[in-house]
Amino acid sequence: MIDRAAVRFGVVRSLVIDHPLVTQKLTALRDKHTDNTTFRLLADELVTLLAYEATRGIRVNEITVETPLESTKGVKLASPTPVIVPILRAGLGMLDGMLRVLPTAEVGFLGMVRDEQTLIASTYADRLPDNLKGRQVFVLDPMLATGGTLVAAMELLFERGADDIVAIALIAAPEGIARVEQAFGKDVNVTVVTAGLDAGLNDRGYIVPGLGDAGDRLFGAVGNAN
Ligand code: URA
Repeated sequence: MIDRAAVRFGVVRSLVIDHPLVTQKLTALRDKHTDNTTFRLLADELVTLLAYEATRGIRVNEITVETPLESTKGVKLASPTPVIVPILRAGLGMLDGMLRVLPTAEVGFLGMVRDEQTLIASTYADRLPDNLKGRQVFVLDPMLATGGTLVAAMELLFERGADDIVAIALIAAPEGIARVEQAFGKDVNVTVVTAGLDAGLNDRGYIVPGLGDAGDRLFGAVGNAN
């Protein structure tokens, strides 16, 4: 199930952020005439807007603060700090936008590549904290297509002890959302936040209408890298 109104349902929740500025930036990202430089700027701005919604469940502790006039109640981010995990290569284009909202987060890196024939994801780089016990994790991957990469990444993060994972994607396909929903039972907290839910996948596993290859749009075509 996909919730356009950003209301929690079931165990995996999927939020399609319905805001005119989000849609305007996504539209410009989709445009094939948008150059790499502009694309990077827009992706950065868009992630910052998505991060605002994606961090709605961030853990905080209540504190008392002294204003110049009197004391009042407020909150500070709880420990341990959240971890942001961009999935290389394209997730790197989302990191700065996320760090702008969560500057004290730790950053871990996962390099994942999908075989363009089988569409199966494999891990080629793992620079994560060994122990993610009790950590909230924000996974950044611009395109939630088949869901294979995201599910593999989330399984690894749960194995390391993460207990709450929010994935942020610029665009998602219904197939990818369904795969994430099927992969995780009711014992885990998983949220997918996206700017757009597209029609589906083409026969090469690309999201349509989509925006093309997110890595190439961000960084230029470098061989077959994701
Ligand atoms: N990866 C991309 O970069 N684009 C898609 O449409 C699907 C996967």
